[in-house]
Amino acid sequence: MSFLRIVLLVSLLGTSLAADSLRTAARGRVHVGTAARPGFIIADSRYAATLAREFDQLEPENEMKWLLLRPARDHFDFAPADDLVRFAKQNGMVVRGHTLLWHQAVPKWLADGEWTWNELSQLMADHIQTVVKHFAGSVYAWDVVNEAFHPDGSLRSSIWYDSPGIGAEGPYGYIERAFALAHAADPQAKLFYNDYAFEAGGPKFEAILAMARDFKKRGVPLSGIGFQCHFSLESISAAALERTVRAFTDLGLEVHITELDVRLPVDSTGQPSPKDLERQAQLYGEVVRTCLEIRGCNAIQVWGFTDARSWIPRAFQRYGAGTLFDQEYRAKPAYAAVLDSLSQTTTTGGSHK
Ligand code: XIL
Repeated sequence: MSFLRIVLLVSLLGTSLAADSLRTAARGRVHVGTAARPGFIIADSRYAATLAREFDQLEPENEMKWLLLRPARDHFDFAPADDLVRFAKQNGMVVRGHTLLWHQAVPKWLADGEWTWNELSQLMADHIQTVVKHFAGSVYAWDVVNEAFHPDGSLRSSIWYDSPGIGAEGPYGYIERAFALAHAADPQAKLFYNDYAFEAGGPKFEAILAMARDFKKRGVPLSGIGFQCHFSLESISAAALERTVRAFTDLGLEVHITELDVRLPVDSTGQPSPKDLERQAQLYGEVVRTCLEIRGCNAIQVWGFTDARSWIPRAFQRYGAGTLFDQEYRAKPAYAAVLDSLSQTTTTGGSHK
């Protein structure tokens, strides 16, 4: 075969590969992930097929939270999370773990227990050690602590903050200890602090940045910041996102986009307007381009990929249609925009990772 023919063949292949799916279009520069649930994989073949085709990273939507993982104090149920890890491995996907400490999804036995400082500290330590060790080698990055700040930048009252008690343990108390415990349990895992509604700046952003600076200075094993990115059309501009992402990458931290979705106002049948679908596509495309352009922004993950299975209608009244595929698994304008951004952008800063 002549050289010209080979070149032609390769470029043809390249074009078709780039257009194939999100994961091929990303060409290894970033992971393209989604939250997923094992029940949907079993019950819905279109769900499973789309998940495996489009994404190279998976995060359990709920199965690694205390509520599902630990139904009783002395009983862990790893099976549903293990099923997701197996699915990921079978399909060449990496796994993000979510989440070791959060104020929500706390099981009743834990919330209602009357724990002493020592007992709760011990429970937290045992939990982090057991869970991180169980998934060591399978989970490459953990959301160690999730949503620890109020909008005004103060620390959120939660079972973890109130007791063991931040005051007793230095400036960021339990947060810092959770990172140290997770690092000891799996020194290879990347450890993230994950939050929402700080992506455009403001007091919560400033508070997280101050904590990140402090952790870097004192050697707390923080690898990066998770930007949840649960957006509406009014949430953010690309310029603001670029500024806040760079604030962390400039410190030498990684950024992962962890829970991207763009909810739209919908009518009584769940339908958004065509104009909003276009605006949604634009915002999705901008988020992807912003991440790709910043060295250190290494993963772009959506919080579910089909409107048929999204958490949005349950969480936000009169909103929906926030994902890349519609109820019938047809690709929406947002899918085309993400695919286009992943296909077009060339990284200027050398290797991304
Ligand atoms: C949500 C899930 O999507 C729902 O299924 C569940 O009922 C509640 O939690 N921020 C997070 C995620 O970090 O864990 C949340 O997931 C959405 C908001």
